[in-house]
Amino acid sequence: VKRITTNTLQEMKQRGEKISMLTAYDFSMATIVEDAGIDVMLVGDSASNVMAGHETTLPITLDQMVYHASSVVRAAKKALVVVDLPFGSYQGNSKEALNSAIRIMKEAGAHAVKMEGGTEIAESVTRILAAGIPVMGHLGLTPQSIYKFGTYTVRAKEETEAMKLKSDALALQELGCFGVVLEKIPAKLAQEVTESLAIPTIGIGAGGNCDGQVLVIHDMLGMNKGFKPRFLRQYANLFEEMSGAVKAYIQDVKSKDFPGEKEQY
Ligand code: KIV
Ligand code: NA
Repeated sequence: VKRITTNTLQEMKQRGEKISMLTAYDFSMATIVEDAGIDVMLVGDSASNVMAGHETTLPITLDQMVYHASSVVRAAKKALVVVDLPFGSYQGNSKEALNSAIRIMKEAGAHAVKMEGGTEIAESVTRILAAGIPVMGHLGLTPQSIYKFGTYTVRAKEETEAMKLKSDALALQELGCFGVVLEKIPAKLAQEVTESLAIPTIGIGAGGNCDGQVLVIHDMLGMNKGFKPRFLRQYANLFEEMSGAVKAYIQDVKSKDFPGEKEQY
């Protein structure tokens, strides 16, 4: 199989082929996602929420991201593996940011890193790119800034924030980023940004005119009971499915139905 690269994504944008991206955090799930033919797997810091049970993405550490990333990389044959730099691993200074990115590439074997923010992180982005590490941007609702925003509601609805987002997107492209995630912003704004950029935009809650889409795998599989924001399309109800299987197992153990004659030695 031919590995998808950042260049492949560029070409896909040029010919109008949409880019599919999903999160993955472990080998088993990544194997399923890879086998289904995904273009990009994102080892998101949303692992902090869905894997570790934290309320926000802030607590997850670089060590933990390296662990998740290395598991996903072992399952990736064709997909490009992008890994989030976690909160606190790149905001301090550009040297620290570069060291964090190097750990993700070297210890986990990832193909690219993703970082939240615009011009504020320009120096770090530049330094990481200079080391030959592809960088994906992330604008709009950037969950590492949740305590600044105070809410998970739609971003950039008014003019000042929309203008800032547009210039940040252009700045990230100028610096050399290979793509940018647009999270929870008005569809019209996402379309304008997408049309203004040569690099692909990947939307989540950003409408159908982005160059690609991303969802958190647990959300789209319906494993997160009760999490149903407007932007989420649920493709399965695995919570019910898996819960039903566990209940059946418990029942079979209690009733001494399991193991049966043919399930023992
Ligand atoms: O961490 C994550 O899952 C993400 C996507 C939602 C874009 O950053
Ligand atoms: Na993230």
